[in-house]
Amino acid sequence: MTIIAPSILSANFARLGEEIGAAEAAGADWIHVDVMDGHFVPNLTFGPPVIAAVRPATSLPFDVHLMIERPELSIDDYIAAGADRITVHAEACVHLHRTVHYIKEKGLPAGVAINPATPVAVLEPILHDLDLVLIMTVNPGFGGQAFIPYSLVKLRQLTAMLDERGLHSVHIQVDGGVNQETAPLIREAGANVLVAGNAVFGEKDRAAAIARLR
Ligand code: DX5
Ligand code: ZN
Repeated sequence: MTIIAPSILSANFARLGEEIGAAEAAGADWIHVDVMDGHFVPNLTFGPPVIAAVRPATSLPFDVHLMIERPELSIDDYIAAGADRITVHAEACVHLHRTVHYIKEKGLPAGVAINPATPVAVLEPILHDLDLVLIMTVNPGFGGQAFIPYSLVKLRQLTAMLDERGLHSVHIQVDGGVNQETAPLIREAGANVLVAGNAVFGEKDRAAAIARLR
């Protein structure tokens, strides 16, 4: 079953708690929380205090996507704020193996994200340690961007790598430009977790929007 993780980056920040509750009521499976530091990506969103403030708004898992430099310095803060799973960027981690294992030692599922120009092969040495791989299908930083078609090639490369190694429980997540047109292509290429910002929070009827992505 496809997991739908609406990204709150596209939600109304003035009513973030209500928007998260509405996403749950509309059938979301996870809440995708886009943390941006204005350095690793050009945008700046929110950090642990805001995440902690909206934590009581839902019992759904907070799927925290750290688009920040030196994420290893603040893993504990995001866990304390209520993260249920943490994804770091391969490009932001000099010691990626150490950071992934740190997240796991803290008891959380660990994910690694790769940007559009980063080859899937980068993940090969730690693939067996991961709960999730996030294939960015836009350049991170903003919602509402166009899906990068080459991402489907990377997605198929990843699914082949996982199949060759018998790693069938690793979540394959796609993030960026996911909508009712791209969702079928993405699912058919092997992803089982779809992040969607504008395609959900940009719609009046969020339940219908989520249903269209499944
Ligand atoms: C982009 C974020 C995505 C973004 C998706 O940097 O990581 O999660 O919010 O937004 P849409 O679905 O509108 O492309
Ligand atoms: Zn994201």
